[in-house]
Amino acid sequence: MSSSSIPAVDFAALWADIGPQALEAVARMGESGWYVLGTEVEQFERDLAAAHGVEHAIGCASGLDAIEIGLRAAGIGPGDEVLTTPLTAFATALAIARAGATPRFADVDEFGLLDLDAVERAIERHPAIRAVVPVHLYGHAVDGARLQQLAEAHDVAILEDAAQAVLARSDGRPVGADTIGAATSFYPTKNLGALGDGGALLTNRPEIAAAARELRDYGQRAKYEHVRLGLNSRLDELHAAILRTAVLPRLVAATDRRRVIATRYLAELDNEQLIVPGVPQGSASVWHLFPVFVVDADQRDAFQAYLREQQIGTAVHYPILASAQEAWDAPEPPSAYPVADRLARTELSLPIHPYLSDEDLTRVIAACNAW
Ligand SMILES: Cc1ncc(COP(=O)(O)O)c(C=O)c1O
Repeated sequence: MSSSSIPAVDFAALWADIGPQALEAVARMGESGWYVLGTEVEQFERDLAAAHGVEHAIGCASGLDAIEIGLRAAGIGPGDEVLTTPLTAFATALAIARAGATPRFADVDEFGLLDLDAVERAIERHPAIRAVVPVHLYGHAVDGARLQQLAEAHDVAILEDAAQAVLARSDGRPVGADTIGAATSFYPTKNLGALGDGGALLTNRPEIAAAARELRDYGQRAKYEHVRLGLNSRLDELHAAILRTAVLPRLVAATDRRRVIATRYLAELDNEQLIVPGVPQGSASVWHLFPVFVVDADQRDAFQAYLREQQIGTAVHYPILASAQEAWDAPEPPSAYPVADRLARTELSLPIHPYLSDEDLTRVIAACNAW
């Protein structure tokens, strides 16, 4: 019975909610006769920057591009090594390679976030590391004060991957506010999801914002004046229009709902076969995902199948470490990063989205506890 299925992400409910306003936005954009880099993008960038709590937002074609553009705006390129986490979407590491740099990896902590002690040791051992890309995985904020301390002590650029963490704060500070910046994604499943691809660089640094605006637009400073070898990575007016008036105005309430759901999971999940890690110190998490970790790695797939039988949708983030992907010339064995390896083999993301009802949440919790 489809009426009793609980999807991991509910696009039908999303469209039922935003559809009329999205169609209005499409009509507004269409009637404007201006489809690339116009007033919709400009206004959306202003609204997004204000909502997140930074000075500048630069709309791009994807989160992948926003990371590449942020790194290149900071002067990172060929010959540089960039340290990141193996437990992330492949896009994080791919963006480093696309910027011309070489990705290097360090292990994660029990929350799945980059282990900043391991980062510091790696920076001390490898002087070619000129930047670090921490990932605010699952919507948890990596420790911002520690990131700043690393940047200052070791002269490395920090570009944060906030694809899953728009509005997240570390000790009250918006992620990306005190570093080079943060790249976010508008991929449809994300907290601020578009009806297609998109992303943005969020930053407080005017020189990074200016460079990013050039890089996303063929490296143009003014029309037909190319000062860098850039990309075509502009957020479409169409997506900006829909995001601005149909999606962004709902983001605070949607994030609050995610937090209510997470609070119930944290209080009510009770099964010795499941590890529920909670929230990292100082993180005002936005709960893009709600990860649990199965004690016995061999049982993870059985747990997922059990929930599927009860029509409860889940997903694994991520089954293969970014460092182990065969796209690299020399993929590293998963065992190179033991904590990330264990988390990748035991993680399952439970449904957490703003349209999840209290009744459905009760059903998910009961199913998990009965397993
Ligand atoms: C952590 C992380 N980084 C980067 C990306 C890439 O974003 P996009 O799909 O917009 O390119 C994603 C999402 O797919 C992500 O979850």
